[in-house]
Amino acid sequence: MKEKGGEFVWFDGKLVKWEDARVPIYTHALHYGTTVFEGIRAYAAKNNVYIFRLEDHMKRLHRSARVYSISLKYSARELANATVELLQENKVKESSYIRPLTFVGLHGIDLNVTKDSPTHTVIITFPFAKYFKGEGIRACVSSWRRIHDSMTPPLVKAAGNYLNSILATQESKRNGYDESILLDSYGNVSEASGENIFVVRHHNIYTPYFADSALEGITRETVMTIAEDLGYKVIERQIARTELYMADEIFLTGTAAEIVPVTNIDCYLVGSGKEGPMTRSIREMYAKIVSAEAKEYMEWLTPVW
Ligand SMILES: Cc1ncc(COP(=O)(O)O)c(C=O)c1O
Repeated sequence: MKEKGGEFVWFDGKLVKWEDARVPIYTHALHYGTTVFEGIRAYAAKNNVYIFRLEDHMKRLHRSARVYSISLKYSARELANATVELLQENKVKESSYIRPLTFVGLHGIDLNVTKDSPTHTVIITFPFAKYFKGEGIRACVSSWRRIHDSMTPPLVKAAGNYLNSILATQESKRNGYDESILLDSYGNVSEASGENIFVVRHHNIYTPYFADSALEGITRETVMTIAEDLGYKVIERQIARTELYMADEIFLTGTAAEIVPVTNIDCYLVGSGKEGPMTRSIREMYAKIVSAEAKEYMEWLTPVW
């Protein structure tokens, strides 16, 4: 990661200097991708810094670790407290990204990772602004298919899964697009390389099922709540590729990307080619929530100071 983060990282229960946080070359995760991780955002607002859905992210880290029998020695609450402590120690005052990871350490070269295999947990943080530039993005449908639950489950936020996302991203960037949308093994819409997808048609909002190879996105769930509170109907269902070319609006959701309208897909304009009204109202409400301006959603925020 080229970002040089805060001075300290949290490493197995201790705050250590960034440059002293090292792992041996035999670390299993380096060889086989046996890491589960999270991506969390903290927002500078109102003279404070607010971490968005901190404990929910740590709970997902636990669910990911469980599937691969990667033992995680700290509870979600302990990891949440450690994150606050880390941001305080780093004197964080600006909007930041937080990356917790749990990985298999000196297990040897065999593949039988069990709950007794040695693991480490690290939390790092670095300043972070907007992920996608501009008002709307150009996306393509990838020629790569999303990994399927019967292979390496996409419901698990595991490092190895991102090789699939990397291939799709490289292809989209080579061809001049901002992002790729992957289909599942059966040809239905799954998700983007690092975001969940929502499609608006006939005033309803649709998003794929988890069984369509989508991650259980925390922003996805947040958006479903916001949309329903705004009076929109959100329906989980399979989405055919062609519906992307017929959609009134498309938007992607993710911690890094936040809520980003797709205004062009495979050179078809989405709707008018500008952000649609439903996307805008959800995006604006999300922006209010993360900057502590929506009282009714304050429980999603953890203040650092
Ligand atoms: C493949 C993939 N799908 C969806 C998401 C969105 O998840 P979340 O909203 O929890 O960040 C992410 C981002 O972490 C992702 O990498």
